[in-house]
Amino acid sequence: MLEFSKDGNLMLKNLLPSRRDFPADDPIFALNTEARIRAAKGETVINATVGALLDDNGQLVILDTVMELWRELTPMEIAPYAPIAGDPAYLTAMVQRYWPDLSHFGTGCATPGGSGALALSIRNFLEPGQAVLTLAPYWGPYDTLAQENGARVETFPIPEPGRAIDALALMEKAKSILVKQGRLLVWLNDPCHNPTGRSTSPAGRAAILEVLRELCHLGPITLLLDLAYLEYAADPAGVMEALQDYARFALEGRVLVGASLSVSKTLTLYGARVGALVFPWTRDASLQAALAMSCRGIFSNAPKAPQSLVVRLAKDGKAQARLADEHRHWSEKLNARAHSLSAALRMEKLPGVPWQGGFFVTLPAEDPLATAGKLKDRGVFVVPIPKGLRIGLCGLRAQDTPIFALAYKESL
Ligand SMILES: Cc1ncc(COP(=O)(O)O)c(C=O)c1O
Repeated sequence: MLEFSKDGNLMLKNLLPSRRDFPADDPIFALNTEARIRAAKGETVINATVGALLDDNGQLVILDTVMELWRELTPMEIAPYAPIAGDPAYLTAMVQRYWPDLSHFGTGCATPGGSGALALSIRNFLEPGQAVLTLAPYWGPYDTLAQENGARVETFPIPEPGRAIDALALMEKAKSILVKQGRLLVWLNDPCHNPTGRSTSPAGRAAILEVLRELCHLGPITLLLDLAYLEYAADPAGVMEALQDYARFALEGRVLVGASLSVSKTLTLYGARVGALVFPWTRDASLQAALAMSCRGIFSNAPKAPQSLVVRLAKDGKAQARLADEHRHWSEKLNARAHSLSAALRMEKLPGVPWQGGFFVTLPAEDPLATAGKLKDRGVFVVPIPKGLRIGLCGLRAQDTPIFALAYKESL
C-alpha cells in the first residue's frame, strides 16, 4: 500500500494544497477517544468531553418512547426517498414541537441534522467570504461549518452570569458587519446554550432583538435560532417564553427569523441525521425554491425513517406524554449534576456554575489548554475553549463532581 504523508516522500499532490493541513480527527472526538482508551486500560477516568447524554453507568441514554416508535416503522416509512425538501408533515411537526400554535412550517427543508441547517443558512444568506455573527463562546464546529461553506465566524460576548448584555458592543459589531457586507446572518444558540448552559434573560433577549430592529434599515438581517437542547432545561416554562418572544419578533416582519432544528438531542437520534431549516413565519416561494436547490445540490434527500418517526409521534398523544416524562427525568438528572458540581466547586472555595439548560457548562480558565492538559494528566477530560473549559454535564456523574472540582482547582 502506498503511504501518503506530509513528511514522507510521497506527498498526495492530488489533494488541493489548501486542504492538506487539517487535524486527522475532530479535537473533541479525539479527546473522547483518548479518555475511553485510558478507561479501558483500567485507569479511573472522568470524561466530561462527551457531547451525548450518558446515564450514571456511562451508557448512552436512548429514549424508550422513541425506540418503540422506531420499531413500529413500516418498510414504506423507511425505504423510499423522502421529498427533496423534506416531508411537509415532518417539517410541520418539528415546528409545532416549539410553536404549537402554528399550523404550517412556513418555508423550510429537512437537513442532515442541525449541522445541515446551519450550513444551508450560510449558502443562502451570505456571499463567499462574509461573516456570520454569533455569541461567544460558541460550539466549536461553527468554525468548521463556516469555513467549509466559505464564511467565517464573528462574535459578541455572552455576559458573565448575572450581568447585562453589552448592547452597545453588539450594536457596533452588528452594524460594522452590516455596513461591510450589506447583509447580516446571526446564529443565536438560545435558549440552552452550548457551551455555557445558560439562556438569555428576558431583558437580554429584548436587548438583542432591539439591536436587530434598529439596524434592519441597513440591509437584510436573518436571525437563525439554533435550537439543539430545548428539551433539557431547568425551567421549561422559561424556554417557551423565549420561543414566544422570538415568534412575536418574527411577526413584526423586519428581520427574517428561522430555526435550525434537530432530532439528535431532542429524540436522542444522533445517528439518524435529520434536522430542519425552517422559517415558520414566512411563506416565500423563492426562499423555498432556493432551499430545495441547496438540498438537491449538497446532500439530496434527508433520511426518511426519522422523518416518518417524527410524523408518527405528532399523531400519538400517549407517546408524546411518555416522551415528555422521559425528558423531564433527564432534565432533572442534568439539573442534579449541575447542582452537585456547583456544591463541589464551592467546597473548594470557588464560585458555583449556573445551569439553565443543555448538556454543558463552562468553567473559567486563564490558560485553557494548560489547565485542560493538567486535568488530563489526572485522568479528568474536558474540552478547552477560548477563555475556559467546556464541561459535559451530560457525561459527568454527580458522585464524581467532588474529585472533579478538586482536580480543577489544583490545575488552574
Ligand atoms: C449548538 C449546537 N448546534 C447544532 C448542533 C447540531 O447537531 P446535529 O447536527 O447533530 O443536529 C449541535 C450538536 O452538538 C450543537 O451543540
